[in-house]
Amino acid sequence: MLRAPFAHYAAPPMDDATAQRIARRLLGWYERHGRDLPWRRHPTPYRVWVSEVMLQQTVVATVIPYFERWMERFPDVESVARADEREVLAAWEGLGYYQRARRLHRAARRLMWEHEGRLPASEAALRRLPGVGPYIAAAILSIAFGQDVVALDANVVRVFMRLTATPGRGTEAGVRRRVRDRARAGLPPGRAAAYNQALMDFGSLVCRPRAPLCEECLLREECEAFRRGMQYDIPKPTRRKLTAIRTAVAVLVQDDRVYIQQRPTGGLFAGLWEFPGGKAHPDETPRQALRRECREELGVDCAPGRKLAELTHYYTVFQVRLHAFLCPPPEGLPLDSTHRWVPLEELDDYPMPSANRQVVQALEQL
Ligand code: ADE
Repeated sequence: MLRAPFAHYAAPPMDDATAQRIARRLLGWYERHGRDLPWRRHPTPYRVWVSEVMLQQTVVATVIPYFERWMERFPDVESVARADEREVLAAWEGLGYYQRARRLHRAARRLMWEHEGRLPASEAALRRLPGVGPYIAAAILSIAFGQDVVALDANVVRVFMRLTATPGRGTEAGVRRRVRDRARAGLPPGRAAAYNQALMDFGSLVCRPRAPLCEECLLREECEAFRRGMQYDIPKPTRRKLTAIRTAVAVLVQDDRVYIQQRPTGGLFAGLWEFPGGKAHPDETPRQALRRECREELGVDCAPGRKLAELTHYYTVFQVRLHAFLCPPPEGLPLDSTHRWVPLEELDDYPMPSANRQVVQALEQL
């Protein structure tokens, strides 16, 4: 076995016969251990598309109930296209990265005009749809249309990086070229759907990012990273430092109605509804921040009263500590299409970021 200092010598390239042997083993494993997931039961182009968009930034266990509810509410492209954006965002609420839902909605409308409500079976036409990049296009073409293309998600890239002991990060162009080339070399003609999904499942169940199960891995003998003891260093680990943010929001209640506002159409949480408020400056208390934000955003003076909730929320690069205060409604609040008094029992119809939804739940328990 090679040991340091030899460990960093370039790995011998994986030959085509090895890539094909790996594929055969993976397909056998997938038949026995592949996950039974709702979008795999009837892999129509529409269902595969929706599942892949949901799965793009979200783990499988979270996606499953959303996918099932979505298919009941929106069984086909036409039902999405006919819905208004608020309904689409409400069905997405809690999944995060709401831009995905807005693009799916726009894409559904475009499919109605340009493709009679059907997903096209060509990469170029799929890529013209909002929100469809190379990975989602490849997943639809292989899983739903049975075309012989590889779909490289982060799991698949990691698996091949380890098998070939390719150092670096999975986002580097050179790494992706090498991985794509080897994944293609192994692709069994006519079986791309099973091959791609076997690789995805193998990547999430066995060749896991931080704690790979090398001792019980069926590809152990083929794995150059394992042979060199480098499986924990490939891909190069990323350490993400979370930025801590404090926010303060005003919960204004009058006659069982609650005052909420809609976020602008661009940027974070675009189009979602929220309580008024905002980020605290470093030298401010949450109460001071709330007063300043209400003056700046709404032109009114809000006197924060009792604290209703304090909760922590994690977004990709932020850790947000949110402080929610009950406030007596001041005179002169703006009222227009983006600032409303909404009956408490109708708040569910207004899509909100998760932290705001938790404030609603605290309010309902008062
Ligand atoms: N992650 C992204 N797409 C997936 C799929 N089709 N099956 C399992 N995990 C996935």
